[in-house]
Amino acid sequence: MGAAPAIDRIRLDIRLTPLQILTHAGAWVPFFVLLWDASRDQLTANPILEATRRTGLAALVLLILSLACTPLNVLFGFRQAIKLRRPLGVYGLLYVGVHLFIFVVLDYGLDAGLIRDTIIEQRFVLVGFAAFVLLLPLGITSTKGWMKRLGRKWSLLHRLVYIAVPLGVVHYLWLVKADIRVPLQYGAVVALLLFLRIPHVRRFFANLRYRLAPRLVMSPIRPANR
Ligand code: HEM
Repeated sequence: MGAAPAIDRIRLDIRLTPLQILTHAGAWVPFFVLLWDASRDQLTANPILEATRRTGLAALVLLILSLACTPLNVLFGFRQAIKLRRPLGVYGLLYVGVHLFIFVVLDYGLDAGLIRDTIIEQRFVLVGFAAFVLLLPLGITSTKGWMKRLGRKWSLLHRLVYIAVPLGVVHYLWLVKADIRVPLQYGAVVALLLFLRIPHVRRFFANLRYRLAPRLVMSPIRPANR
């Protein structure tokens, strides 16, 4: 009898909205498609490079989607997006991890000297490495326990993502040899998302939304968080 409320509480805690389920399922798609294609030898003539590219792109897209959640709430009052911010960021970091694993283990066979030389000699790898170093503490502290332990410092620390994601875009821009239009488009989206985070800009759009559709304003605009 006494255990029933506790069980209810557990059920409540893990209840996900359809959008959250879609996010979790969608985030796994690139990974399973990669495994599926690898198992059928469908990863081009250079499977390691193809796997590196796919995981790098998945990481960047998920990190950008995570950055888009707050502006979606501020501009359109889409409060559900706030709950997706952390899982999208964590999935982005997981793909960075797989991206790095493929590079370090499958491509360079854990050869520390060769890896070090490549990081120093190739500027796109150096920038990717810098992005990874900045993302590492975010990955470690992404749990709810760390969130509680760090309190306000957690949001400050997680602002490193504002540097890491642009570095990810520069990494992409520098590795592309001919047509740089796609990485530039990613860069434009990131620049726009960061611009919308500037407190003045953010306040302007929050007020505009309130004036245009006061009834649609469902969520209070919280001060600077990510
Ligand atoms: C130590 C860290 C990293 C290393 C060593 C690394 C290495 C690489 C390599 C070797 C490639 C393939 C290059 C080629 O096509 O010739 C690549 C592609 C890519 N990486 Fe990284 N990377 C790192 C970190 C990151 C991070 C943190 C991100 C994202 C935030 C990222 C995103 C990408 C993207 C978007 C691509 C290109 C995908 C495409 O061609 O479609 N990488 N990376």
